[in-house]
Amino acid sequence: MKYTQGMLRDDALKGKIIAITGGGSGLGKSMGKYFLELGAHLAICGRRLEKVEEAKKELERATGGKVMAASCDVRKPQEVEAFLAQILDTYGKVDVLLNNAAGNFISPTERLSYGAFDAVIDIVLKGTKNCTLAFGKHWIKSKKQDKVVLNIVTTYAETGSAYVVPSAMSKAGVLAMTRSLAVEWAKYGIRFNAIAPGPFPTKGAWARLLPGDLGEKLKVENQVPLKRAGDHQELANLAAFLVSDFAPYMNGEVVTIDGGEWLQGAGQMNFLEEVPQEMWDWVEKATRNAGKKN
Ligand code: HXC
Ligand code: NAP
Repeated sequence: MKYTQGMLRDDALKGKIIAITGGGSGLGKSMGKYFLELGAHLAICGRRLEKVEEAKKELERATGGKVMAASCDVRKPQEVEAFLAQILDTYGKVDVLLNNAAGNFISPTERLSYGAFDAVIDIVLKGTKNCTLAFGKHWIKSKKQDKVVLNIVTTYAETGSAYVVPSAMSKAGVLAMTRSLAVEWAKYGIRFNAIAPGPFPTKGAWARLLPGDLGEKLKVENQVPLKRAGDHQELANLAAFLVSDFAPYMNGEVVTIDGGEWLQGAGQMNFLEEVPQEMWDWVEKATRNAGKKN
C-alpha cells in the first residue's frame, strides 16, 4: 500500500454528482479524476471553455466516467447560476460543491495596485461566496439533504503569510465561512469542511508562486519536515473521504495535509534542526550540567 494509490472502495462515490470549480487543471482535475474512479459524475468549470473541454475529454478517456464541462467565471453570480442550472439540466441534481478555483501570485504588498488586490479577492473570497450561496439556496429551497461543500484553503488561512496577502485574507474569509455555515446550515442537511494543503506541485501555482528557477533555488521541500512535496493522489484520497457518505459526522473541520510544513515555521525552537547530530552529545552534557552550576 502507498499514498500514491486510491484509498476508498471502488463504489464509494457511486451516484454522486460533484461540481468542481477550477476543475480543468491542477488539483481540481486530480481530485475530479479520483471522484470519477469512485463512481461519481462530475461538472467542472473554469473561465476558458477550451481548457475545461480538454480536461473533460482527458478525464472521460482515463476513467470511462461522465463529465459536464462549462465555462463559468465564479466572480459573476449570473454565470454561477447558469452553471448550476446546466448541472441540474444534465444530471437532475447536485450533491457536492468543491470550491477549488483560485487566483494568486507573489508580490511585496506595497507593489500591489487596488486592482491587483481585487483580482485575487474577487476569485477566491467572492467567487467562493457566489458558488456557496447559489448552491446552498438551491439545496435549501428544494429541501434536499446530505449535501456537502468542501473548500480548498491554505495553511496560511490561519497564520497569515507575507507576500501573498490578498490570498491569505481571502482564504481566511473562506475558512470563516466554512465554520460559520457548518453550524448555520447543518439544519438543512449541508455539511461544510475545508482542506488546507501544503505544497502540491501544479503548473498554475508554481508559475505564480515559484516562477523560473525559484523553486529549485529555494528548495520548497526543505520547508517540509517530511522533505517532500505532496502527491496529488494523497490529496484526492482525503477529499474523496470528506465528500463521501463515510464522513457524515465531519462538519466545520479544516484538515491540514502539508507534511508538517506550517508547524516547522511555527515552533520557537525549530531552528535546532540546524544542530548537527554529532553535537547533541555535547548539548546533552551541557544541559544535564546546567543545574549543577546554578
Ligand atoms: C502585480 C499583478 C500581477 C503580478 C496581475 N497583476 N498580476 N500585479 N504582480 N504578478 C495586477 C494587474 O496589473 C491588474 O492591476 C490586476 O492585477 C488584474 O490583473 P489581470 O491580469 O487583469 O487579472 P486576471 O486576468 O483577473 O487574473 C487573475 C490573476 C491570475 C490572479 C492575476 O494570476 C490568474 O488568472 N490566476 C488563476 C490561476 C491561479 O492563480 N492559480 C494559482 C493558485 S495557487 P490593475 O491595477 O491594472 O487593475 C494558490 C496556492 C496557495 O492559491 C498556497 C500555496 C502554498
Ligand atoms: P490551478 O491549476 O491554477 O487551479 C486554479 C483553477 O481555478 C484553474 O483551473 C483556473 O482556471 C480556475 N479559475 C481561476 N479563476 C477562476 C474564475 N474566476 N472562475 C472560474 N475558475 C477560475 O492551481 P492549483 O494549484 O490546482 O490550485 C487549486 C486550489 O488549491 C486553489 O484553491 C489553491 O489556492 C489551492 N492550493 C494549492 C496549493 C498547491 O500547492 N498547488 C497549495 C495550497 C492551496 P481558468 O484560469 O481557466 O479560469
